[in-house]
Amino acid sequence: MKLCHAMFFIALYSGIAISGNAGGESTDKNGEKYSPKILAETPPMGWSSWNYYGDRINEKIIIDTIDNMVSSGLRDAGYIYVNIDDGWQKYKGSRADHPLVFDEKKFPRGIKYLADYAHAKGMKLGIYSGPGNTTCAGYTGSQGNEKADAKMFASWGVDHLKYDSCCSHQQASQKVLKQVFGDMSQALQASGRPVVFHACHCGWQNIWQWGNSVGANQWRIGQDISDDFNYPGNREGYYFDVLDMIDRGVGLEQYSGKGHWNDYDMLIIGLHGHSKELVGTGASDTEYRTHFSMWSILSSPLLIGASLDNLTKEDLDTLKNKEIIALNQDALGLQAKRYVSNGDLQIFAKPLADGSWAVALLNRSGQTAHMTLNFHQDLDLPWTKVMVRDLWQHKDLGTFGDSYQAEVQSHEAKMLVIRSGW
Ligand code: GAL
Repeated sequence: MKLCHAMFFIALYSGIAISGNAGGESTDKNGEKYSPKILAETPPMGWSSWNYYGDRINEKIIIDTIDNMVSSGLRDAGYIYVNIDDGWQKYKGSRADHPLVFDEKKFPRGIKYLADYAHAKGMKLGIYSGPGNTTCAGYTGSQGNEKADAKMFASWGVDHLKYDSCCSHQQASQKVLKQVFGDMSQALQASGRPVVFHACHCGWQNIWQWGNSVGANQWRIGQDISDDFNYPGNREGYYFDVLDMIDRGVGLEQYSGKGHWNDYDMLIIGLHGHSKELVGTGASDTEYRTHFSMWSILSSPLLIGASLDNLTKEDLDTLKNKEIIALNQDALGLQAKRYVSNGDLQIFAKPLADGSWAVALLNRSGQTAHMTLNFHQDLDLPWTKVMVRDLWQHKDLGTFGDSYQAEVQSHEAKMLVIRSGW
């Protein structure tokens, strides 16, 4: 009954039939029906090296990060990918002149050692390359060697590939981009290893419209994030702050779903203005919480971009809020829509698998505001009484009739789950 309820709302919500991407049934060799497992069935959660370390990475950093994910409880909260970004390669310069091999000064025991290490701890390992002759940081890319590289990554036991065309194919047409991403996607499939495929093209050429068709499991919807909640203007014409990124995703809900996610870029929680790769002076705890809440309800991949050594208690509490993470990992796999846009006061919401709804009351302004959620007028819900739960207070707030009103601090998002309370 609950599922039917949820299905009814999704049909209303998306205005479309539930798509085949949710994984159709197949028949195995004994004639039994089964649903094949979709790669990245929920948004990937983990950590990525770039935004804090840049290319100053090495084996110790990766091992320490894996250990830290386990001891801090992050792994058990769902963060299982440890993704090595650009800078693991030995050579800078064109692939035509150099092989793609790991830098043994940084990674003396190689990448397979790290994949084995991650797997032994119940985690997964990611790697980075790109379709160009060189990557963004100038290291050798995969151009012309897609099959061999995919095979090599698979033989190392890699579980995630960020394949980055932002620098090499900045001016490329959609046709060329589909070709280069499609080539690597097919090469990964041919390798026989399930490798989550991140097609990273900085949100250019409407990649959300065709990313799924070339086998991508996630794609960035914008350029690099900055460690800032709301910086006036678009930093250096390239960096998006948290609010820019949220705006960028409005209207893209239909492209995100099980196995193929709109990626709002790595989390900035814990950077506190110390990234050498990103611009920005950091954000307050409230702003980091809002950022996390929004990335979660929007079903973005959740990849921590900070050094785990620098996380404060508040950062960890934010990253480990199970009730917020549950919105991100919900079985329906929907990205929240913006239902109300009243200047700086905005309401995002989405149905959840158990028939309830997740709601974000987002105050983008510089002042505290009173925000009202009208259950029927705003979300068209049929319920006569509505139970409201606050996901940061971890508290049921009671049962309400037509509306719920809350005081929302500047740059705060009140995160609610509402359900029929009849
Ligand atoms: C950029 C990308 C970053 C990082 C960097 C590595 O294009 O947006 O997230 O991967 O390349 O050089």
